[in-house]
Amino acid sequence: LFAASALTGLAHAGMVDDAVKRGTLRVGMDPTYMPFEMTNKRGEIIGFEVDLLKAMSKAMGVKLELVSTSYDGIIPALLTDKFDMIGSGMTLTQERNLRINFSEPFIVVGQTLLIRKELQGEIKSYKDLNDGKYRITSKIGTTGEMVAKKLIAKAQYHGFDNEQEAVMDVVNGKADAFIYDAPYNVVAVNKAGAGKLVFLEEPFTFEPLAFGLKKGDYDSLNWINNWMHQIRNDGTYERIHAKWFKK
Ligand code: ARG
Repeated sequence: LFAASALTGLAHAGMVDDAVKRGTLRVGMDPTYMPFEMTNKRGEIIGFEVDLLKAMSKAMGVKLELVSTSYDGIIPALLTDKFDMIGSGMTLTQERNLRINFSEPFIVVGQTLLIRKELQGEIKSYKDLNDGKYRITSKIGTTGEMVAKKLIAKAQYHGFDNEQEAVMDVVNGKADAFIYDAPYNVVAVNKAGAGKLVFLEEPFTFEPLAFGLKKGDYDSLNWINNWMHQIRNDGTYERIHAKWFKK
């Protein structure tokens, strides 16, 4: 029996294999991250990463199920099988990579700042904010928060459950700056900013965003990375990217 299963390759082949057998790929995400995953007026979750995941599940021949999960608890939720994979604009950090595996990155972003209009000229980079008199906001559990605490450690920091509240704190003049991934801030400066925010758009960190998988699942990593290579070269990635990001 042992020899037979070894010959026919019946070894457990990871979450992609499970998803194919189940007919559904379950992806954990916190749909608050414009323009990657967000909820439209009809309550549907849409965005750049959602479209990538739709293409991925189509290639797998399965249905896509998005599992809304707070960002703060998204790694524990993966590790306790609430879903198969994290697809939530997650920065591949070395710290997170000690706990989970990551696919090849699907895009590279970096931290940027939205500052109070009144601070224009006074604050030219994150370094100018490194002073106890300034108050910075971001979202709990994100790299925005980690970078604020590490690179702008002298400033006061306040974390919010979602990005929008953290931006509003600056719009309302309670905080001085919101630190977050560049693509989010590009959208937010026009949406919530309405002339009240200034965008310091030069990213000052290097942040590859990738899909997160449980450790040890190299079969699924192989499938996803080969799929990524395919869509990067057959026009699929370019088409989806052009839909969500202006040149
Ligand atoms: N890239 C940042 C991080 O990994 C922010 C991602 C936030 N994602 C979300 N779906 N709200 O921490």
